[in-house]
Amino acid sequence: MTERGLLNTAMIAREAAYAPYSGYRVGAALLAEDGTVYTGCNVENASYSATICAERAAFTAAISAGARKFKAIAVAGGRGLKADEAASPCGICRQVMAEFCDGDFSIILGNESTLSRHTLGELLPLSFALEGK
Ligand code: THU
Repeated sequence: MTERGLLNTAMIAREAAYAPYSGYRVGAALLAEDGTVYTGCNVENASYSATICAERAAFTAAISAGARKFKAIAVAGGRGLKADEAASPCGICRQVMAEFCDGDFSIILGNESTLSRHTLGELLPLSFALEGK
């Protein structure tokens, strides 16, 4: 799976976003070490705080299916019909990624015309971890 392929998969996953409150729709595609791709979209809630981001939706789908090792995640977001902004993962999602991924985990952001690659180590330096995990 290429970076562009993973980002395209995130844009397709975004079509299922449930975002009646913010109107900001996000899709994520998570590439596991065995090549399987797990997708997620944001799922908002009337209580607002119960909202689940697309990235965490993808991680919970993957973990629930038994996957534990991951190579990369692509994220696509925006308010338009097509992903028109380069959505960057929120702090909570970065911490969830750090639970399962090392600093070299790839985070791919963009839309149909842009693509940028980052590492978890860059986006979440000095992340919290319990010793002995
Ligand atoms: N959101 C995500 O799903 N992922 C991100 O990376 C940033 C924000 C969602 C949460 C909420 O439903 C909407 O985007 C606006 O914050």
